[in-house]
Amino acid sequence: MSKDKVYIFDTTLRDGEQVPGCKLDTEQKLVIAERLDTLGVDVIEAGFPISSPGDFNSVNEIAKIVKNATVCGLTRSVKKDIEVAAEALKYARKPRIHTGIGTSDSHIKYKFNSTREKILERAVDAVRYAKTFVEDVEFYAEDAGRTDNEYLAKVCEEVIKAGATVLNIPDTTGYCLPEEYGAKMKYLRENVSGIDKAILSCHCHNDLGLATANSISGVINGARQIECTINGIGERAGNTSLEEVVMILRQHPYLKLDTGINSKLLYDTSLMVSEKMGMPVQPNKAIVGSNAFAHSSGIHQDGVIKKRETYEIIDPREVGVDHSSIVLTARSGRAALAYRAKNIGYELTKVQLDVIYEHFLRFADRKKEIVDEDIHQIIENANINIES
Ligand code: KIV
Ligand code: ZN
Repeated sequence: MSKDKVYIFDTTLRDGEQVPGCKLDTEQKLVIAERLDTLGVDVIEAGFPISSPGDFNSVNEIAKIVKNATVCGLTRSVKKDIEVAAEALKYARKPRIHTGIGTSDSHIKYKFNSTREKILERAVDAVRYAKTFVEDVEFYAEDAGRTDNEYLAKVCEEVIKAGATVLNIPDTTGYCLPEEYGAKMKYLRENVSGIDKAILSCHCHNDLGLATANSISGVINGARQIECTINGIGERAGNTSLEEVVMILRQHPYLKLDTGINSKLLYDTSLMVSEKMGMPVQPNKAIVGSNAFAHSSGIHQDGVIKKRETYEIIDPREVGVDHSSIVLTARSGRAALAYRAKNIGYELTKVQLDVIYEHFLRFADRKKEIVDEDIHQIIENANINIES
């Protein structure tokens, strides 16, 4: 079955790094960029070169070492930003300038004190200018999620004429519902002349917890690039999580959409970014959280022990996790206790298991999680003769 490619644009080092307290130095960024390249992302947004000399240097160094991915630098629709980004990217094998401007009425009025016409002009000028430095120019219509569709289509049409190769449609404030965001993509596909010359890109924020759903809705409706970050880090509630969109597309083959990501590196990459940024991953985070493949209730454990697929839709090895885990708590059943006891060398008969289970429950009511040490102790205290 042939599948359409969805490009993965990773912005961990730009939008992700905007998280307070997560700033990285150039060395750390280089290690992450190398890993992203190995992971198979198509574009690495390395930074916002005009924002500081340190960020300029990081983009410059990343551009030198990345072998496969396009390396991208962010700019405003400002000439100086574009010149500095072009300079920072000059060693990149595949450079991209990502320029843009706010297009919602709220941004036009309050941020720029301007008009739709003038903003359109600035957008076109920025793309045209960026095009004098690099072939690959991505345009972002900031706050596209709240931008009037007709005006957005006009902006897209004009920046394509000016040479934009990718159109980024950010839901900057994480406001859209999936249906609405998908409909926006569909509207642009149907109403922007020349749209086939450019790739539509999803850039969704997670203020309402909808970033992943919106991105998926975007690609179902014709976008072919998703902008995302490892662990979903980013401004406020974060960006779309890379590992989530990659696995959603993979687990739903009938969508006929695929990314080139080596999913087996997802877990390690998540750990690496979390450690370098000092930003823990919530245990219940989809795909990479420590509980993502842990089962603790008796009913689920019984099912998983009999057949993993009863309660798991992803083989953990597919994302680089060795195996699922059976966690013992006061909610666990006999099957889980027998399984864990067997793992540490005890073959329990049914009668022995009944006795041990009573001891186990009393112990588990006092302790959040029962570890292997506890199992040894429970069996010892039960004082029955068990082969181990
Ligand atoms: O969220 C956003 O709109 C952005 C743009 C600068 C691309 O991050
Ligand atoms: Zn953003």
